[in-house]
Amino acid sequence: MSISHVDLNALADKYGTPLYLYDQNAMEDKIDAYLDNFVSDRFETQVLYASKAFSCKGMIQLVKQKGMSLDVVSGGELFVAQQVGFDMKKVYFHGNNKSADEIEFALSLDVSTIVVDNYQELLLVDKLAKQLGKKIKVLFRLNIGVDAHTHKYISTALFESKFGMMPDSKAFADCMSYFSDNTNVVFDGIHCHIGSQVFEINAYKLAIDKMVDIISQWSKPLTLNIGGGFGVRYTDEDKPIDTAELCKMLIDYVHKALDDKKVKINKLLIEPGRSIVGEAGSTIYTVGFTKQIPTKSFYFVDGGMTDNIRPALYQAKYDCDVVGKQNEPKTNKVTIAGKCCESGDLIIEDVMLPDAQSGDRIVVYTTGAYGYSMSSNYNKATTPAVVFVKDGNAKVVIKRQTYQDLVANDVDDEWSKL
Ligand code: LLP
Repeated sequence: MSISHVDLNALADKYGTPLYLYDQNAMEDKIDAYLDNFVSDRFETQVLYASKAFSCKGMIQLVKQKGMSLDVVSGGELFVAQQVGFDMKKVYFHGNNKSADEIEFALSLDVSTIVVDNYQELLLVDKLAKQLGKKIKVLFRLNIGVDAHTHKYISTALFESKFGMMPDSKAFADCMSYFSDNTNVVFDGIHCHIGSQVFEINAYKLAIDKMVDIISQWSKPLTLNIGGGFGVRYTDEDKPIDTAELCKMLIDYVHKALDDKKVKINKLLIEPGRSIVGEAGSTIYTVGFTKQIPTKSFYFVDGGMTDNIRPALYQAKYDCDVVGKQNEPKTNKVTIAGKCCESGDLIIEDVMLPDAQSGDRIVVYTTGAYGYSMSSNYNKATTPAVVFVKDGNAKVVIKRQTYQDLVANDVDDEWSKL
């Protein structure tokens, strides 16, 4: 069993477990599919990688090499981009509660655009831009009330969501009347993001209709950002749309909506995260003890909710195999449980697998998005190493944490003075 011709057991032996593995060829193919197909002969297009899905220097370097643009949502994500010399003219800064420090950092680096969430933020961005002598383009995040029918924690554009402003709100009207020749913020367009792990193309069509309708009130061609959220396959229940087809459908639908409203735009943006890295990533664990209770059988693995919180947080479903036994009959109904002191620390419940013993490896598929990036040190677990595999070669992009890393920020002598 291998990734890009490299044997999974050999990788686990060499780098230890739990281990995050990414098939770099698969990520590059995905990026190419977006860049080749999200194109229009009527306006500029940009594909932004939503770095919250998985960010580290190696990943952002890859995004840079492929010529994509970047969505960052914190000073930390922006710092990673700076560290790899990312072209700041391709960086968009999102978030509903950016601090003054973060905004100053973004302005000082000359990022392309700040995606403004609310009126208070607009005032702060303008004030700081004035102080620094910068002009900065802004997009407004709008809450357009489209229900993408995804999990409620990752569905972001229902009217009760904390993100953005409603198009007919006083807050948005205040923003629009704020601009003048004396402001250092420059209105460049509107943004929405209807949710994550979305499969319903109709939800995007509805969002596009609403966004084009809103943008039709300005005569100057503006930027339209329709967000990310494109679903991936975790289990057989998920049926994602092919990326090339998805891009063409979105572009065609935007063309149609613009024609219907007789509107022109300058630029169209999307910002996929999960669909770039999700399926390319997997996690390898080693089985420790196995346990049978009257109602269940467990395979205990050497990681858990500390490297993948998604099952506990969203009841997320995954597929897995016992490495090297993937063709053996799957006769046992088992639950893959982690090693944290939490009853909910279950990676997959009631999955059919062959007999596994202590020392066998389990590979959990499609963990590339929001797995490592949401990992924690709960129970003082060390975060796993991350390895990229390309054309038969493996390279570590993030080292495994050590026990020493776990106390690196602890201050030695202060506690003794208490
Ligand atoms: N743009 C904006 C403004 C976003 O808020 C997000 C994700 C994206 C783009 C990228 O969405 P994607 O293409 O990756 O679905 N932790 C959750 C997902 C949270 C998504 C947050 N925003 C999970 O593990 O499912």
